[in-house]
Amino acid sequence: MTAHMLLPDLPAYAEVKAHAAALKQASLERLFKEDDSRAEKFTLEAAGLQLDYSKHLLNHDALASLLNLATQAGLHQSIVDLFSGKPVNNTENRPALHTLLRASSSEGHTDKFKDVVATRGRMQAIAQRLNRGEHTGYSGAVITDVVNIGIGGSDLGPRLVTSALKPFRGNIRCHYVANADPADLQETLLHLDAASTLFIICSKSFRTEETLANSLEARAWMLTAGAKATELEKHFLAITTNLQAAEDFGIPAGHCLPLWDWVGGRYSVWSAIGLSCAIAVGWERFAEFLAGAESMDQHFYTCAPSANMPLLMSLLELWYCNFLGAKNHVVLPYDHSLERLPDFLQQLTMESNGKRVSVDGQPLDYTTGPVLWGSTGTLGQHSFHQLLHQGQLLCPVDFVLPLTTHTGMAQQHLNLVANCLAQSRTLMVGRSLKAAKDALLQRGLDNKKAEDLAPHLVMPGNRPSSVITMESLNPATLGALLALYEHRTFCSARLWNINPFDQWGVELGKEISVGISQKLQDTDNRNIMDGATERLIQRWKNAQK
Ligand code: F6P
Repeated sequence: MTAHMLLPDLPAYAEVKAHAAALKQASLERLFKEDDSRAEKFTLEAAGLQLDYSKHLLNHDALASLLNLATQAGLHQSIVDLFSGKPVNNTENRPALHTLLRASSSEGHTDKFKDVVATRGRMQAIAQRLNRGEHTGYSGAVITDVVNIGIGGSDLGPRLVTSALKPFRGNIRCHYVANADPADLQETLLHLDAASTLFIICSKSFRTEETLANSLEARAWMLTAGAKATELEKHFLAITTNLQAAEDFGIPAGHCLPLWDWVGGRYSVWSAIGLSCAIAVGWERFAEFLAGAESMDQHFYTCAPSANMPLLMSLLELWYCNFLGAKNHVVLPYDHSLERLPDFLQQLTMESNGKRVSVDGQPLDYTTGPVLWGSTGTLGQHSFHQLLHQGQLLCPVDFVLPLTTHTGMAQQHLNLVANCLAQSRTLMVGRSLKAAKDALLQRGLDNKKAEDLAPHLVMPGNRPSSVITMESLNPATLGALLALYEHRTFCSARLWNINPFDQWGVELGKEISVGISQKLQDTDNRNIMDGATERLIQRWKNAQK
């Protein structure tokens, strides 16, 4: 079977479709009643994570057909190709070897691995020097604050990891500046002393407008504070594939750490792009983070499809998107430290799989890349969970739940856990009209009022969710969790027959912005835009007067 067949052309597609038509009508609660060991049967373990996917509109026959689909799509060979360094990013003719960044051996990529190990060594030395208070700035003051300037993959991963591993942090404070809006940088610098601040400019291309603008401002701030031009190198490091551009910016080669074109931006937190995390939590912890991801990689590579966690999560994604009509996917971490997880996963999944043509450039007439959204529990319960429970959209949910807390506040954490499990169960069981009316009668309403109000309290239930648990959120389980979603994204892309490693859709907006910027500055006065854009440009000009 070729790896380049479109989803509906795979022989198992019709089988899966038939299962979906039948299971659409199934009752999740009944599925549990019919099989005492359903929860156990639909639970998997990998790399310190447990996935309970029993609350899905799924049975073993449907799952078997979905697994056939994966086999017929050549998924196993695709996984081998990914790890072996084949140019799986076909539009850019590049491999996507992010797994090598967290590997403990070369996996046959001797030269690349040598570079990875050398770079890890430099990261470790930088992190240790900073944490020992040995890195001093232009005035001799010890560096206490690190500002990561980057955007997209050069920001979201490091920002998530640093914030998720808060309990493991050392003395150095890490800050993140990403936005083109100057307020982002300004607000960050307001509380910092230039003499004790180090900037890490993270940009794979070293061409990204936001990052370059913020970096230029950071340099000006440093000079204004009293640093001499020759002392700037004490305050700037760069992580990039474009070492020449970094040098042109004024960061000497010795202060640049490399990145490689075989690492995609949104897959780069494991590289030197993660330097701020290594500084924040110390090298040992960062190494544990890499090891956790490697352990998920090994599971993904070696485990049979039926017990392969990323693969099964991908099949669930397909099941809902392509057979049951879902257009979105919700991720709800019940852990404050994971508040950045949905942002990170948005880039990972939507920049990877928000595609409309196949790897061969053929327009696709089936759903790919659903909208991913979410936020931490319990915050969402007091805002959008209403839609999850009673709205009309099918929203499959992943609950992510560390089972212990670093806070020492066990009772409050118990309540958090109770809320998480309650939300997953409530989505499944819902509330019938009769139960709604009974509840109102119990509250003391008369029969007529109870009857009128009851329909508003009805919750259809039967809404699917997974629960991903881990004993604690620590560097290793965090690494495993992020690698899990990376591989899920890859499997879905392969099943949809799209390239998850390019992002051509972000280019045009950047080009048009350059043209508009020229018009805002009156360097191009041709009337070449649409009427709406021309009017808004004029409105902006009026506001500047
Ligand atoms: O604009 C999208 C994008 O290219 C992302 O893919 C990338 O992570 C981000 O911009 C930042 O790019 P760079 O690291 O090259 O500055």
